[in-house]
Amino acid sequence: MASADTLIMVRDVDSLRRRIAAWRRDHLKVALVPTMGALHKGHVALMQRGLQQADRVVATIFVNPKQFGPSEDFSAYPRQENADFDMLAKTGVHLLYAPEVGTIYPDGFATAVRVAGLSDVLDGAHRPGHFDGVATVVTKLLLQAGPDIALFGEKDYQQLAIIKRLQTDLNIPVDIIGVATQRDADGVALSSRNAYLTAEERKKAPALYAAIGAAAKAIAGGADIASSLTAAKDQIAAAGFGKIDYVEARHAETLVPLTSAAEPGRMLAAAQLGRARLIDNVAIEK
Ligand code: PAF
Repeated sequence: MASADTLIMVRDVDSLRRRIAAWRRDHLKVALVPTMGALHKGHVALMQRGLQQADRVVATIFVNPKQFGPSEDFSAYPRQENADFDMLAKTGVHLLYAPEVGTIYPDGFATAVRVAGLSDVLDGAHRPGHFDGVATVVTKLLLQAGPDIALFGEKDYQQLAIIKRLQTDLNIPVDIIGVATQRDADGVALSSRNAYLTAEERKKAPALYAAIGAAAKAIAGGADIASSLTAAKDQIAAAGFGKIDYVEARHAETLVPLTSAAEPGRMLAAAQLGRARLIDNVAIEK
């Protein structure tokens, strides 16, 4: 069994389950943190929260082909398993599950998990099939590992809402925990895809968070929702972003358009900056 300070890597489901079963026999609480690797401080925050809330933390690294569209960056997605392993070991994670594609999707794999509604709006409308891929792989990882809790970043707010929904709908016995977005000092949300930004683009990137933050504050203070969204889009465009996929004020749980600041709200945005498609979100609250 892994001791508290030794990171072990496994690639197959049996080894994963054997280790977790041993912890379970010792009445240890197990946290799962699914990732696609290229780990940064945002992932470390997820691991640290797992370490606070559980006795053992299992990280997964799997670049999931099913959540990338045909014209998206699956082959270019950063892969750095050795550096990720070192970072996880330093953080105190106990087990790394890094399966091959064939372990997750063996020959003949024919099942998909689809969360209707929540998966069709915002990013789902711009990345058809993306959230079906996420829901399918997250369901598999939860069923393979069987953790007590699983942690996901609020940076991918829509993804988090979808995972909470599928956990409830499928009665998967796990607590899904959202962890606040980690940001650089200038407000830019940490993301593996920030690596695609040139130095010049990186200087423009803070405008996204600034614009949605200002709009969220305005709406919470009673400003008109539609004009606040237009102002945010103008700000993002003026900063030098390319295509703006959406800037929206949505209900924090159902993600339907927000009609009043009295409801729990979330401001969400996605826009292209050079090679990177950046997404971000903030709460709409006073
Ligand atoms: O957020 C991610 O890194 C991925 O979407 C996840 C949850 C690991 C599923 O592949």
